[in-house]
Order: sequence, then C-alpha cells, then structure tokens
Amino acid sequence: MRSDTGQVFKLEDYRPSDFRIPATELTFDLAPERTLVTAELTIERQPGVAAKTPLVLDGDGLTLVSLAIDGEAAGAASFRATPDSLTLRSLPAARSFRLTIVTEIAPAENAALMGLYLSNSVYCTQCEAEGFRRITYFLDRPDVLSVYTVRIEADLKTAPLLLSNGNPGETGELNGGRHFAVWHDPFPKPSYLFALVAGDLATVSDSFETMEGRKVALGIHVEHGKQDRTTYAMDALKRSMKWDEERFGRAYDLDVFNIVAVSDFNMGAMENKGLNIFNDKYVLADPETATDTDFANIEAIIAHEYFHNWTGNRITCRDWFQLCLKEGLTVYRDQEFTADQRSRAVERIGDVRTLKGHQFPEDQGPLAHPVRPRRYREINNFYTATVYEKGAEVVRMIQALLGPDLFRAGMDLYFERHDGEAATVEEFVKVFEDAAGRDLSQFFLWYQQAGTPNVTAKARYDEGARVLAIDIEQSIPPTPGESRKKVMHIPLAFGLVGPDGSDMDWKAVDGASVENGVIHLRKRKHALRFSGVSERPRLSLNRGFSAPVTLSVEENRADRIFLARHDGDLFCRWQALNTLMVEVLIAAANLCRDGRPPDFPADLVALCGDIAADESLEPAFRALALTLPAEADIAREMGSNIDPDAILAARTLLAEAIGSAHAQAFAALYGALDSKAPFTPDSGSAGRRALRNIILDYLAVSSGEASLAARQYADASNMTDRAAALTVLATRHGESTDKAEAFADFERRYRTDALVLDKWFQIQAAAPGPAAVETVRALGEHPAFSLTNPNRLRALVGTFSTANQTGFHRADGEGYRFFAEIVLQVEKKNPQVAARLATALRSWRSLEPGRKALAREVLLRMSSAENLSADLRDIVDRTLA
Ligand code: ARG
Ligand code: ZN
Repeated sequence: MRSDTGQVFKLEDYRPSDFRIPATELTFDLAPERTLVTAELTIERQPGVAAKTPLVLDGDGLTLVSLAIDGEAAGAASFRATPDSLTLRSLPAARSFRLTIVTEIAPAENAALMGLYLSNSVYCTQCEAEGFRRITYFLDRPDVLSVYTVRIEADLKTAPLLLSNGNPGETGELNGGRHFAVWHDPFPKPSYLFALVAGDLATVSDSFETMEGRKVALGIHVEHGKQDRTTYAMDALKRSMKWDEERFGRAYDLDVFNIVAVSDFNMGAMENKGLNIFNDKYVLADPETATDTDFANIEAIIAHEYFHNWTGNRITCRDWFQLCLKEGLTVYRDQEFTADQRSRAVERIGDVRTLKGHQFPEDQGPLAHPVRPRRYREINNFYTATVYEKGAEVVRMIQALLGPDLFRAGMDLYFERHDGEAATVEEFVKVFEDAAGRDLSQFFLWYQQAGTPNVTAKARYDEGARVLAIDIEQSIPPTPGESRKKVMHIPLAFGLVGPDGSDMDWKAVDGASVENGVIHLRKRKHALRFSGVSERPRLSLNRGFSAPVTLSVEENRADRIFLARHDGDLFCRWQALNTLMVEVLIAAANLCRDGRPPDFPADLVALCGDIAADESLEPAFRALALTLPAEADIAREMGSNIDPDAILAARTLLAEAIGSAHAQAFAALYGALDSKAPFTPDSGSAGRRALRNIILDYLAVSSGEASLAARQYADASNMTDRAAALTVLATRHGESTDKAEAFADFERRYRTDALVLDKWFQIQAAAPGPAAVETVRALGEHPAFSLTNPNRLRALVGTFSTANQTGFHRADGEGYRFFAEIVLQVEKKNPQVAARLATALRSWRSLEPGRKALAREVLLRMSSAENLSADLRDIVDRTLA
C-alpha cells in the first residue's frame, strides 16, 4: 500500500512526456504467489529532448528482477530501482531504443484489487487510474499511447481461458501442463486500458455484424453454472452496439468483444479495450435472483462500458484532470441510450434523483470540486458524482444550447479531429464552437466552477397589459478554495401553463435572453417580460431539468398543485409534486422534533390518490411520483441542524396519511396490478411491478398489518416482488414471526449465492431505527460476510452509512464509532474502497450540534490513525477542512 506522500498534483503543472512508448510487448508467466512480467518497451525520445534527460518510469510496490537496454543487461550504476520508480540516467544516444524489464508480482497477495489480482482463483486486472504501475514500470499516464502485444502463459488446468485486449493470435501448449495465448491490440492505447484475464470460466458466445459489415465475436465469461444469467447482458450489449451506430455513427472496431464478470471488483466495471471487466453484480441476472433495478443497472453499465470504446478509448484523456471528458460524456451517452430503450421521462426523473441524491450533497459539502478538478492528491477519489453525473449534465446542456443537429455535427467533428488522441476538455468544447459557430466561453465555467448554482424566480402577471414579468437571479455559493464565483450561463427550458393545462402563447419583449423555449441566464439578474399572455399563467421552469441548479420559484401552493396535476412536461410535474412533499415534510419534521403532531394538507394527499389512479400516466411514472422524498433528500433540503429521527417520524406519518386516505382504492389497485404472466424484464412490466410495490408499502404502513407483505413474499415468482416484500417487512413492521420467517427463508434459499444474499444484508442494513447498529454489527459476523469483498462491504456497511439515516446517525454516536472501526480495518487492505466508504460522513456539518460533535470526533479519530493511506487521508482531511 502506498502511504501518503502529501504530494498534490496540479492541472497547471501538466507537461508532455519527454518519451513515447510506441510499442509494448508483455509476457506474463502467471502463478498466484510469483508472477513474472517481462515488458519489452520500444522507447522513443521526443524531438528536442536532450539525450542526457533521464527516463523515469512509474512503479507501485514493484520488485525488479532484471533490466536490459537494447538487449544488454543494464549496469547497476546506470539505473535506480525503487518499488515506486525506475530511473535510467545513461541512455543510448539513439532516439529510439528497447528496454526489457522483468518484474515479479504476487497476484494472490493483492488485496487492493488494483493491478493484477486473483478473484475466486481467476487472474484479472484493474489498471484505471494508476494500477498498471503495480504490474510493471511504465510511463503510466493516459497521454502515453502504445500498441500492445501480450503473451500469457499459465496452467492449462486452472486457467484454460486466457484473454487480453485486441484480437486473438497464436495459442499453444507448453511443458509442465502449461499453455499460452498471444493477443494483439492494433489500436494505440494508454496503460490504464490494459487488461488480462486468466482462469477457468464458462463462456457464452454470440455475434454481431457491424454496419460496416464486420463480424464481431461476442463473449461473456462467467463462473461455471452462471451461464443462464447472462442472457440479459448479452442482449443489452447487442442493443448498445446497434444504438451507437444509429445514434452516433460509431461502429465497433475489433474482431472480438469480451466481457468478464468477476466477484471482487472495486467499482462497477471497466472499459479495457476489447475486454471489459465487470463486477459480476452488473452482468448476472435472471428473474429469480435479480430485481428490475438490477436489470436496469446491467443494461446501463453494459452500454456505458461499450460506449467508452469511442469516448474514452479511441479518444482518451490527456491527463486525469480531464476525466469528465470520457466519463461525463459516456454517462450522457448511456442515459440517452436508456431513454431511447425505455421511457424518456422516467429515465430523466431517475437521473435527476440520482444527481440530487449524490452530486448535490457533494457539491454542497467539503468535498466539492469542479467537473474538471484543478488539483488532487489521490486520483481515485475523483471518480465522483460530480465528474460523472454533473459531467453528463454539462454535455446535456451543450446539446440543449445547440439543438440535436448541431450537437451531432459537433460530436462527428470530435471523432474526426481527435481520433487516436489524448484530448482535453477545451478541445471537446471547441468542436461544438466550431460546428455551431458559437462562443461557449461563459458556458465553460460549468467545467471550472464547483458548487450548485441557486436560481430564484418570481413572476407577476399584469392583467390589464397582458404581460407576465419574471425576475430571475442566480447566485453560486462559495466552495472549498473558490470563494468568489463568476456569473454562469444557465439554460432554463420553460413553458407558461394556461388554465386548461396546455402551454400558452407568448412573445418575449426582450428577446435576447429567450430562444426556442429556453431562458438563457447570462447575467446575475434578468428582468424578463412576456407580452400577449391572455390569462394568468403558471410558470413551468427548468423543464426536463435543463440545468443542474437549485431552483426556488416564489409561487403559491395552489399553483404548485396545479403544475403537479397538469404540467405538460412530465419531469416538471414530478418536480412540482416532489417540492410540495419536501415542504410539507420539513414542516412536519420541525413539529415532530418539538413533540407536536403534524397535520398534512388534504390537497396533497388527494393528489397522490389521483396520480395512483391515473391510467393515462405510465405506471413507472406513477410509482416515482408516489415515492416520498428519501430521508436524505429531506435532510439536504433542510440544509442545517438536521435531526434524522424527526425526519423519519415525519416521513412515516405522511406515508400513513396517504395510505389511510386511499386504503380502499390502493387495495383494489394492488389487486388489479397482480400479474400472473411470466416475468419479463421490459420497462413496462417493471413499471407495473414498481407501482404495485409502492402501493404495498402504503398499505403496510397504513394498516400496520404484516400479513400482506408476508403473503407477497411467499407467493413471489421473481426477485423484484420478493425483495420489495422483504423491504416492507423490514421497514414498516416491528418484530413479528412473519418478518422473522421471511428473513430466515431468504437466507436459506440464497446462502450459497453471495450476490443474492447481498440483498438480504442490504435490506437489513437499511432498516431504520436505533437497533440498526447492533443488527449490522451482528451481520458483520455472518459467514457469508467478508471485509475483503467490496460488494459485501457496500451491501452491509455502505448501505448502513448512506441509506440508514437514523441508524448511522444514532444520537449516541455508536453508528459512527462502528463505521470508523470498519473503515480503518478495510483501509489496511483496500484503501480505495475505504476512502469511498468514508465519504458517507461528508455532510456532517449540517447535523444538529450533538451529532455534529460526535461525527467530528470520529473523523478526528480516523485522521490520527497511524500510516493512513493517501486515499483515506485525502478524504478525511478534506472532510474536516
Ligand atoms: N472507467 C470506469 C468506468 O467508469 C471506472 C474505473 C474507475 N476505477 C478507479 N480505480 N477509480 O466505467
Ligand atoms: Zn465510465
């Protein structure tokens, strides 16, 4: 484990490498405890670089076995090797020379899951961001592109399958029960896209013919016996390949495309060229073991990694500050894919919920950073919601500013101009400026300034003049290291909703800032006037969430209820209802805190009943609308002095009020939505299940009866319904035999299937209340739990710390203490995962004083632990700063 050097990397310090590596030949002699890696590198000095300039290669915990220059063993005086670098001072005078580096590594000892490691006896790699340097010494930076040829030698019995990037070459048997395979990737790539897999896996094969007529062999490789669970992933892959051709004109470029599912993986998945490696959670699914959410995640992540082939691989990043260049753009692309495959409105609402749930708190807390950060200590801590999700929002805004045709023209230009390059965000934005003839310099602030802009709006209607005047103002709160903010260009799509619910006509008097249904804020304040407005309209603002801002419109409740019922923009309908709910819940939480009973407005309760019954709306939308804001969402909107117990109490009471007001109608709907048809994962069926399951939750909370959920659990024919019933039993009912039996049954059924048992861990970890800490602590002793498997950790400890507000933030601080113990244990082996877990404390300053002090105490305790890794040190220091 690399401990913290305190070094800070800065964007302005970027300089190109003095050397190139046009060709890389790797030979792996694989063994769990001692793998020999031979790297034959063709090194080329860049023009103008002096011959005496030393070559410094990156390493991380490496042991050098031997080193040769142009075939001759290097003299001890000519180089210096440490675990973390290899420096060569006397190099050949010729511009180009060959280095042969042999290193020794131990995959079986690699618990950090970066570099080459073993997962369930399968050799696999993860190199992004800086894992390649744990395999061999290299210029491990994304702007050094090389053509790789890889030879893998391994035991034939334990590792019959040998994979690497590119196209397959020679294979054969070797002495001693070993065999080899050679792979060649013709596309120059940075080291972070290197991958190798060797093991005994089952292969599911299929094929795809590209629009260029290239036949591509597709393979998904999984644990033996899990082949049947790859059907959906394979289907999603083929749909992704087709979609990228149709929507962006991008075809696949190799003869093979392989996906491998491994059970120990730090993140979701990795886009290595031609060989995507996945967390098995995002590949394996069947109706019995996976929920609709799992199916949707698999579809999105398969698409995401596949789309990286063009946005990330063919065009990569110059340096890690440019991470959003590939990630924001690729998230935008996968969101568009899902919108086209499923329901656009439902996808948008889901994406905005994710953004608000993950990115807004990041942007509003101590870990805030721009979409393109300017400095980092540990790059792995910048694979964030800001870089990914807000990065996608910025691309979406470019498409909104330009319109679909010019946006596509810009993308075409991007591929044409930068194919084969390591590019920057400036170069990306420039293609749109050039394609559209626009100046996007003010817009560029979206990449440079951290913080969620606040936008306030107020409308006044002048009946006599038939004029609607709107005053809009923007402000951006200070964020760490950025106290003064510049005025941004914020595009707000809008409509004026008339009394019959349809959009009204208008004419903008000062047309400059209004264009094609979009208000362009470019100044701090705008006073807009719309004439020819025949009646008082309701203002529908930020339609489709056109800009990632916090919007407050000064309007009365009746207007908001009206918009929630009638807005033609489904996103805004959802938003209006959500805003109403949040307002009511905050007021109720404040009453609950004072021990006074809250009272909920009848118009809101009635509206929920009407939406549930509205057959003109798709079930998935109705399910989303009826989902009350999460406790964390309510807390975020409250902003400060948070008491999670009061929030939970308020939320439960509102659910009860809605559930009891519509008990009969909901019971009827629950029955009507019961489907006897065999399970299919399509979005329509998933939407009906989602609606039925949210109705179940209302029925449970209002009746207090566990029998309905228990029956659904027992009768369930798929995991979606089974897990939903279990969740209701865990969250809505106290201890009962129904509940205990269901949990025992689930454990019995799936105890040998870790991925499925994760749901069991997760549901219990999320169940609210003061006893949660003890429950979670006890589950940590369960034989299926493991501190070294990231999925287990996230299911139990990750869920507890992010989705269990009352448990984690227990008033006596026990939740924090338990959490810190685990984080400190995990970080000894896997610092990256520990650092990620630790971000759960980022909003500690908004807690009420008692909890705030306890959270600070535990952060200080972590901070004073000895030999903290760079990863955790960085998060803890920034969180406390
Ligand atoms: N590029 C991968 C993806 O978005 C994520 C890899 C992150 N790895 C890391 N060590 N931070 O698909
Ligand atoms: Zn990605």
